[in-house]
Amino acid sequence: MCGIVGYVGTRETIPILLDGLERLEYRGYDSAGIACIDPAEKNIRLFKAKGKIADLKSILNGFKSPARIGIGHTRWATHGVPSTINAHPHLGAKGRIAVVHNGIVENYRELKSELERKGIQFKSETDTEVIAQLIEYYDRGNLSKAVRRAAMRFEGYLAFVALSRDEPNYLVALKRSNPLVIGIGKGEHFVASDVSAILPYTKQVIYLDDEELVEVRAKEIQITNLKSQKKVTKKPCTIKWSIDQAQKGGYPDFMLKEIYEQPHVLQEILRKRISKSHQIEFDTLGQEASRHLKSAKKICFVSCGTAYHAGMVGQYMFEEFAHLSATAIVASEFRYSDPILGKGDLVILITQSGETADTLAALREAKEKGAFTLAVVNVVGSTIAREADAVVYTHAGSEIGVASTKAYTAQLMTLALLAFYTGKLRGKISRADFRRLILEAKEIPNQVKKTLEYAKGVNQVAKLLYQKRNFLYLGRGYNFPSALEGSLKLKEITYAHAHGYAAGEMKHGPIALIDDTQPVICLIPESKTYVKMLSNIEEIRAREGIVIAIATYGDRNIGRLSSHVVHIPSQREVFSPILTAIPLQILAYQIAVLNSRDVDKPRNLAKSVTVE
Ligand code: M6R
Repeated sequence: MCGIVGYVGTRETIPILLDGLERLEYRGYDSAGIACIDPAEKNIRLFKAKGKIADLKSILNGFKSPARIGIGHTRWATHGVPSTINAHPHLGAKGRIAVVHNGIVENYRELKSELERKGIQFKSETDTEVIAQLIEYYDRGNLSKAVRRAAMRFEGYLAFVALSRDEPNYLVALKRSNPLVIGIGKGEHFVASDVSAILPYTKQVIYLDDEELVEVRAKEIQITNLKSQKKVTKKPCTIKWSIDQAQKGGYPDFMLKEIYEQPHVLQEILRKRISKSHQIEFDTLGQEASRHLKSAKKICFVSCGTAYHAGMVGQYMFEEFAHLSATAIVASEFRYSDPILGKGDLVILITQSGETADTLAALREAKEKGAFTLAVVNVVGSTIAREADAVVYTHAGSEIGVASTKAYTAQLMTLALLAFYTGKLRGKISRADFRRLILEAKEIPNQVKKTLEYAKGVNQVAKLLYQKRNFLYLGRGYNFPSALEGSLKLKEITYAHAHGYAAGEMKHGPIALIDDTQPVICLIPESKTYVKMLSNIEEIRAREGIVIAIATYGDRNIGRLSSHVVHIPSQREVFSPILTAIPLQILAYQIAVLNSRDVDKPRNLAKSVTVE
């Protein structure tokens, strides 16, 4: 949550900060600000605005500053409402120190009271102001020392960057659980919470690890361990993806672009994972992870939001193909449920960003309990990817739209391949079946292309339904998680209420909702439960509900029961959630557009949720 960017070098700083913030806006966008030091004035200049980076830009109104050092922030509120006062950067009471911060200072109340007792007055409701005030309180002309002393007192997951009016030649940053990366330029350095902020300027980066403090000067950086103060030497790595990958490519929104990228993404995953001899290969998995997949007695998928729905599908996949007892649980529940885990158990964390605080906490909990942890992650080099015992990347490319689309189907394909791989390791899939599965998997990118074609009809459905405020999504088996995912997609970008349900549970309560005004999105691809699902749809029709069916092309029963049918191609059930996801994404997208919603940046959300 929240985006941080910092610069020190020889270039005009404000445009670099604004540019970086624009690319970080997906991390939070309720307010933004920058602080820089004008060498002539020797003062920290602060610009803040409620709203998006565009609002900050209009306050700056093209202002030119000779500053060559500065920090910037785009916020997703945790403590205090979105407002100019609560926007970062925050200053110490004397205006000597400025700070931008990501995460939460859990003991901020105690620290705030302590400082207030010393006569220090606070302006904002934020926990971040405590960081600035405490650093300023400790600062006796050495920012680095003051940051080190203050940082020892903060509890919680955080990352921050500080700037001092009295030492306008360097920034000091600290990483504790929340990500921070240093960009290396020629005679200039950058700090950011995400590499995309600094990619146009440099591809050479150093990822900080927890409890590392870094002094960032134009010509050098110095990393030390927070407590021991020992110097840490790290080699820069080169980022291979270009900033173009993060552009909209002619689509009106990132979300639509990302929906249409799915055939390509899936094709790439299969190209990377399936060898010429039709074997599944996971380059980063390692032997130890394979051993665990082979011998595990139980497996637990832990994740949040859309990634949790992928975990639920993973549960079905591993049960069917690896004959392995599997459960899926949301990370925030797993964390505090004191899970019964130990050596020999396998915990698979699924996450697009690799930075989700609940998933990270769950990973650490699982490791502490002795389980083997395997992360299925999209963002290469992210914290969860680095901390897990093993990692498998989903290779979806950078996903900017807050609503997850291609990252989800990439997770589903990766999990399917992992389930087939595990099934083979455990001797549960014959050679012939394995080969058939691989050949069918290879058909999926084309089937997704076809599904995108079929989904053109969703337009009609969106026009029919866009003013409705209540939706029900039903599915069974592999497509029960799809119903949850479809309803999540609709909620997050249209702000309409939507509920996903296991279709068989309908008669136990939700059926009371059905009348001739209630839209029900029914997922009924070919499957073991097809006939059961058909009966559920009959029950809805009998009560005059508006049935929108997502069904296999050629289904002869469904037309007479539905107001609209959206087709998907015929496929094996295990792959069906990849295909049903497509019309569900497009339906949510089109209803959002018809309601003039900001599809890429829905209200109250952020792409990467780095607070618990
Ligand atoms: O980065 P992660 O996959 O760990 O994120 C998990 C959820 O926050 C995320 O899937 C969220 O639910 C999306 N906005 C859904 O579209």
